[in-house]
Amino acid sequence: MARIPARTAAEFVPEDADLAGLKDAARSCEGCDLYLSATQTVFGDGDPDARVVLLGEQPGDQEDRRGQPFVGPAGRVLDQALVDAGIDRSRAYVTNAVKHFKFTRPERGKRRLHKTPNRAEILACRPWLEAELALLEPELLICLGATAAKAIFGPAFKVTEQRGIPLPRPNLGERSEHAGKRSEHRPAPVVVATIHPSAVLRAENQDEVYAGLVADLRVAADVLT
Ligand code: URA
Ligand code: SF4
Repeated sequence: MARIPARTAAEFVPEDADLAGLKDAARSCEGCDLYLSATQTVFGDGDPDARVVLLGEQPGDQEDRRGQPFVGPAGRVLDQALVDAGIDRSRAYVTNAVKHFKFTRPERGKRRLHKTPNRAEILACRPWLEAELALLEPELLICLGATAAKAIFGPAFKVTEQRGIPLPRPNLGERSEHAGKRSEHRPAPVVVATIHPSAVLRAENQDEVYAGLVADLRVAADVLT
């Protein structure tokens, strides 16, 4: 595991907040430099009683403008895949490993191009994710793509090798004041990793890649039944 960067979101995370309080505090996070060029913090969103948390990488261009996770093209792929796998998005909680949009502007271009967050940014932002997971205590965490999976399992995790397999959720060291509130009633948490829905959009063999995403999500859905 890489060293935790000197500056992180930790000092911005309020101690006794509920999800709404976390979301509110995250608006003014300066835990890494990504807040400088993004439009706004895109915090997690969804059912506070969710049994399943969907974890993406970071907001994209449209999420950055609208302030909500997975509402752009990748979100549309995700929505369809969830329907096909029998997972109800309205009863899930959707969030990202990194809460600000990281992008480059190619010369003369207007379009903002997604840039993958680095390890220091993932670790800087992780106190928000830890606080979300400590409050939600989901039975199932679905990691969408390598960044999400590495945020949970560490940098050596390989989605290609371990996708679609229920794995025990490692402890991120969630803050004790949040952790454990509902643990007596909850089964041991499981993680299923899969590809990022945007991989479907980039693929030449879209049908095949999409079918793989749905197959992994069905494995995840079975964990809940
Ligand atoms: N991609 C992600 O990983 N998350 C989003 O919210 C949108 C696109
Ligand atoms: Fe804070 Fe995360 Fe945004 Fe960095 S990416 S400023 S740690 S919310």
